Amino acid sequence: MISSPPPPEAGLRGAVVGNTTLSSINGDEGKLIYRGLDIHDLARKSTFEEICYLLWFGALPTRAHLDELRAKLAQRRSLPKQLVTLLRDLPPTAAPIDVLRTAVSAMGLFDKHVNDTSRDASLEKAITLTATFPTILAAYHNLSRGEALVEPRRDLDTAANFLYMFFGKDPDRDAARVLDVALILHADHGMNASTFSAIVTAATLSDMYSAITSAVGTLKGPLHGGANEGVIKNLLEIQSPDGVEAWVQDRLSKHEKIMGFGHAVYKAYDPRATELKAIAKDAGQRAGNTKWVDLTERMEQAVWKQKQLYPNVDLYSASVYYTLGFPTEYFTPIFAVSRVAGWCAHVLEQYADNKLIRPRANYVGPRGIEYVPVQARTSDVVLPNAEPAAS
Ligand code: COA
Repeated sequence: MISSPPPPEAGLRGAVVGNTTLSSINGDEGKLIYRGLDIHDLARKSTFEEICYLLWFGALPTRAHLDELRAKLAQRRSLPKQLVTLLRDLPPTAAPIDVLRTAVSAMGLFDKHVNDTSRDASLEKAITLTATFPTILAAYHNLSRGEALVEPRRDLDTAANFLYMFFGKDPDRDAARVLDVALILHADHGMNASTFSAIVTAATLSDMYSAITSAVGTLKGPLHGGANEGVIKNLLEIQSPDGVEAWVQDRLSKHEKIMGFGHAVYKAYDPRATELKAIAKDAGQRAGNTKWVDLTERMEQAVWKQKQLYPNVDLYSASVYYTLGFPTEYFTPIFAVSRVAGWCAHVLEQYADNKLIRPRANYVGPRGIEYVPVQARTSDVVLPNAEPAAS
């Protein structure tokens, strides 16, 4: 009898797939650190560019080093003109996250050193990818509406420039800081699904663009980065605070998942949700419209009362992005604008100490089935259902 390895826990819960020095989650205490620094501290005091430096170089930069990275990111924002043509030719109805996935894949075609996985070449790719994500999204947003392309500005940081290109006007300073904080909070998060798919691809020594394309495709799913779009769809459906309790009850009675709640690792309040809740409230007050954050808070209370589930990062990011004026279908791509920094950092880490990631599956199917030639089959030979794994 062939022995099988012990069956893995569904969804690889609790499995450790490698070492990292980038970020760590303490799910029981609701804590998150980037390279040892507490996320609350970083959200309140740092900037997205500084987080990129921290993740890619493992240091808090001097002013000079930070300025150097900011300048490099600013210089790399423009897209190859063939990529702009591609974006122009895509269906205007395409989902922006699918456009982003396609554009990242296409970006690799314009890099002469696409297959160079050395640290220096990979750092250049990390800078290019992080610099161009906002441009790709803003360009598609404008082109798909028949509007002119807005060229990136070099005098603005990532968040402010993204708002400028997307909405075609000088960004409000407070709005830019709100987006900057959201970018800080989403930049890395341990071995999440999209990061895992990036490193699985990189571990075959495939190129950085392929790894990040895999990651974007994985982020898209509603159980991962796609949840923030689900949150706002739910809020738009509910509309009034009085409808929240009954709506939640209805969903839970049908055993449906409510987007923005629950987490595979956190069994306490997600620290990113704490920060996003605060900025969602501030942003709502400044915009003179707290409807969405109020509705979100009501939903948080109702879900806690009925199911004792904590909010995750996607719950309050939804009202933050909505208040900033982003269309719903851009919420998940905005997550990617930040997480690309973390994905690239993990790919750099993977290349530096690479081993092909090749787990096994626990075969639970039949064995010893005799082959019946096609001429002898009067109907499909239906094989026995999968049997329970041998213990
Ligand atoms: N809404 C309703 N019930 C939920 C829920 C949610 N968002 N998240 C978890 N649950 C319930 C499950 O139905 C299950 O209940 P049961 O024990 O009564 O059957 C229990 O909580 C455990 O759920 P499980 O799916 O095993 O949790 P998980 O830790 O494996 O899943 C997620 C984590 C993120 C996949 C899950 O919470 C989810 O689907 N959330 C909604 C999507 C989302 O917001 N994703 C973004 C994550 S950052």
